[in-house]
Amino acid sequence: MSDVELQHITKHFPGVTALDDVSFSIRDGEFFVLLGPTGAGKTTTLRVIAGLERQDEGTVLFDGEPVDDLTPADRDIAFVFQQYSLYPTMTVYDNLAFPLRSPLRRLPEAEIRRRVEEAAGKLRITHLLERKTANLSGGEMQRVSIGRAIVREPRIFLMDEPLSNLDAKLREALRVELQHLQKTQGSTTLFVTHDQIEALTMADRIAVLNHGRIIQIGTPEDIYDRPATTFVAQLVGTPRINLVEAARENNTLHIRSSELHLPVPEEIDLPATFLIGVRPEDVRPDPAGEFVGEVILTEPLGVETILHIQSGGQSLLSLVSGMSDAVIGDQIRFNIVHTRLHYFDTEGKRIS
Ligand SMILES: Nc1ncnc2c1ncn2[C@@H]1O[C@H](COP(=O)(O)OP(=O)(O)OP(=O)(O)O)[C@@H](O)[C@H]1O
Ligand SMILES: [Mg+2]
Repeated sequence: MSDVELQHITKHFPGVTALDDVSFSIRDGEFFVLLGPTGAGKTTTLRVIAGLERQDEGTVLFDGEPVDDLTPADRDIAFVFQQYSLYPTMTVYDNLAFPLRSPLRRLPEAEIRRRVEEAAGKLRITHLLERKTANLSGGEMQRVSIGRAIVREPRIFLMDEPLSNLDAKLREALRVELQHLQKTQGSTTLFVTHDQIEALTMADRIAVLNHGRIIQIGTPEDIYDRPATTFVAQLVGTPRINLVEAARENNTLHIRSSELHLPVPEEIDLPATFLIGVRPEDVRPDPAGEFVGEVILTEPLGVETILHIQSGGQSLLSLVSGMSDAVIGDQIRFNIVHTRLHYFDTEGKRIS
């Protein structure tokens, strides 16, 4: 396996800058997630690394060596696409063996069988080896696609939203399996998704991409607990972070159009007006709470409940564990955990 480095990659298409000075490095054996909304440039980043697309500026290095002049085949990468691209008339076995039968490899059939069976075992598709792929379920097909990538023992895995076409349950199951597989194989993996849950649960580190630019790189904790911008703060976390306008007034912070006043934080130099981010789990109902509001909606999810609380002209989301007994119209008291607030300037940049 290899480490990967992108240095100042820029890629233009007619009328759009898909990647704008993108730099990051993936350590050997790391599970690195590229997270961003549609059109952010995620697939373009993978295609540039794979050599399927040539960047206009910048360099891609594997193990410190530039690979810009290598063909996709010579880069020795495995690419798993969002749409499985299997050969429908071949069996699962032959689909898995296909990349090993390339004339360039000249692997003996016994070695091919060993690798196919090992990959099939890891992905729990051994029982499917003699089936044709045309009539497999979506989850089975995606397992075969991943299997086809791992039999090759490539330098790097590139995965472009491989789970997004699966139903929620299957997605969760494959997410866990993929994570387990990656950890046991120690394979350097770049995994693309627009799903923040996938990113938070699977990544060693996450790079957040928007409009072709890297906004923040960090561990899931960094991204969740210290978002660099309001964009990142709103991208990760369900339910969404509460983002409210605030101003300093005398010795308190006043949340606009409400009666909510918070203490001025020490060690943070705040401008006159700014934004406060409050995670829903930090809005805590409490009979002795400092603030009061009205419950305007409840979303019971079983393991937790989302309460929509209207306080003056501000509506806040509160996430409480278990099934809440609050009902619409209740007056509810709550606290805001002062120590866990996020402050952003009016441009959306974190103030710290
Ligand atoms: N071959 C191309 N020709 C022209 N424009 C392109 C081409 N490929 C990508 N783009 C544009 O580049 C930008 C980034 O596209 P890209 O496919 O990398 O986004 P993405 O983050 O993968 O989005 P999604 O989540 O929808 O897959 C988009 O504006 C897209 O329209
Ligand atoms: Mg894409």
